[in-house]
Amino acid sequence: MATMRMLLFLAIFYSAGICMISSVTDPNDAAVLLSLKNSWQNTPPSWDKSNDPCDSRWEGVTCNNSRVSGLELSNTSLKGKLYGDIGGLTELRFLNLSFNPGLTGPLSPRLGNLTNLNILFNGEIPDELGNLAELSFLALNSNNFSGAIPPSLGKLSKLYWLDLADNQLTGTIPISTYRSPGLDLLLKAKHFHLNKNQLSGFIPAKLFSSKMALIHLLFDGNRFTGTIPVTLGLIRTLEVLDLSNNSFDPSEAPLWFSTLPSLTTLAVEFGSLQGVVPEKLFSLPNLQLVKLKYNAFNDMLNMSDSINPQLQLVDLQNNQISRISVRQLFGNPVCSSSSGASNATFCQPPHQTTKS
Ligand SMILES: *[C@@H]1O[C@H](CO)[C@@H](O)[C@H](O)[C@H]1NC(C)=O
Ligand SMILES: *[C@@H]1O[C@H](CO)[C@@H](O)[C@H](O)[C@H]1NC(C)=O
Ligand SMILES: *[C@@H]1O[C@H](CO)[C@@H](O)[C@H](O)[C@H]1NC(C)=O
Ligand SMILES: *[C@@H]1O[C@H](CO)[C@@H](O)[C@H](O)[C@H]1NC(C)=O
Ligand SMILES: *[C@@H]1O[C@H](CO)[C@@H](O)[C@H](O)[C@H]1NC(C)=O
Ligand SMILES: *[C@@H]1O[C@H](CO)[C@@H](O)[C@H](O)[C@H]1NC(C)=O
Ligand SMILES: *[C@@H]1O[C@H](CO)[C@@H](O)[C@H](O)[C@H]1NC(C)=O
Ligand SMILES: *[C@@H]1O[C@H](CO)[C@@H](O)[C@H](O)[C@H]1NC(C)=O
Repeated sequence: MATMRMLLFLAIFYSAGICMISSVTDPNDAAVLLSLKNSWQNTPPSWDKSNDPCDSRWEGVTCNNSRVSGLELSNTSLKGKLYGDIGGLTELRFLNLSFNPGLTGPLSPRLGNLTNLNILFNGEIPDELGNLAELSFLALNSNNFSGAIPPSLGKLSKLYWLDLADNQLTGTIPISTYRSPGLDLLLKAKHFHLNKNQLSGFIPAKLFSSKMALIHLLFDGNRFTGTIPVTLGLIRTLEVLDLSNNSFDPSEAPLWFSTLPSLTTLAVEFGSLQGVVPEKLFSLPNLQLVKLKYNAFNDMLNMSDSINPQLQLVDLQNNQISRISVRQLFGNPVCSSSSGASNATFCQPPHQTTKS
């Protein structure tokens, strides 16, 4: 009798085992996605086919060896909360939730009916994203996130792309302390897109170091104050830098204006820069676009020294420049007919100097 019972038990156990085996997705990952699905509106129709995201190929979900490795759900009209449980997708490498303005965070479904706790509805980026240790791509731009940037994002040591642009984020940029991580630890990151938010305070000098690999730094359209830290000049890899539309203190052009060797685009529009535009800026070897309108640059604009021929645009509208020295540029690529500069004074053919 006891044996019989044992056999029955084994049989049940076995069929339960079969059940587990026929489920392709890692049970923990499946549980996270199912709870996301339950808390979101407008998920793709394929998400209703089964409870096994990897097996039935839920749209926007990428799997690798039964683990969820990517979520590409950008611009899908998703509505709801991005809550902390997503931090349980520990093999996630790619997360693109950009352009879903109905998406905010975080509210754990476990908190279910505690809707009176308004503080939970403040739409912050969940701290638990910092648990996604494998994440290399994180795009939460153009949503409705508010609150501060969680310092925990500094734990994403494999991250190469951080895009939080075009949200309602406030507070300062988190940097590491002995007890807390910060964005200065993201040494693999090539992209910091924090533009179009309401971030404030000084840009911390500690944010930048020569160990970083940043190529795009977009901080425009925030409320940063103070001066632009000199440590920015340590990032030799930097190609595109935009600090426009902030509230910096008046200052002369920083030294790194003339020393960042890879810079292709420099934008500090509606800034507080004053003094003379450094003439060496225009000889940076890769520089193409210089956008410095609405500052307080004054005195002479000197573009007489060796000007890098790739330069396409120098926009200095609405400064205080009173004198200009521009060398003849006729015959350079910058003056080719496809370039907007072809009609500029410095692109006109030289005057005939030979006497007739
Ligand atoms: C799949 O995961 C393994 C580790 O489990 C990793 O080595 C491999 O690079 C991953 N493949 C892809 C395409 O992400
Ligand atoms: C993320 O989604 C946006 C919006 O659909 C798209 O423009 C962007 O290319 C995506 N990024 C990647 C790396 O796929
Ligand atoms: C989002 O989708 C709409 C409609 O499909 C499309 O017109 C728009 O260009 C997309 N936006 C982005 C940023 O991909
Ligand atoms: C964005 O959040 C605000 C509150 O923070 C809310 O009033 C607004 O409706 C949200 N926008 C969308 C598109 O959901
Ligand atoms: C949440 O509220 C609904 C209706 O108000 C109720 O039926 C349900 O049991 C509640 N859930 C929890 C977890 O308290
Ligand atoms: C800066 O603000 C101006 C006017 O408010 C706007 O037209 C421009 O697009 C903004 N530029 C950037 C780079 O944020
Ligand atoms: C412009 O700068 C160059 C290089 O620094 C210098 O030699 C030249 O005298 C300057 N021109 C004027 C008009 O100041
Ligand atoms: C340059 O001037 C010519 C003649 O005035 C005009 O047709 C052309 O559109 C101008 N090109 C640019 C890039 O402004």
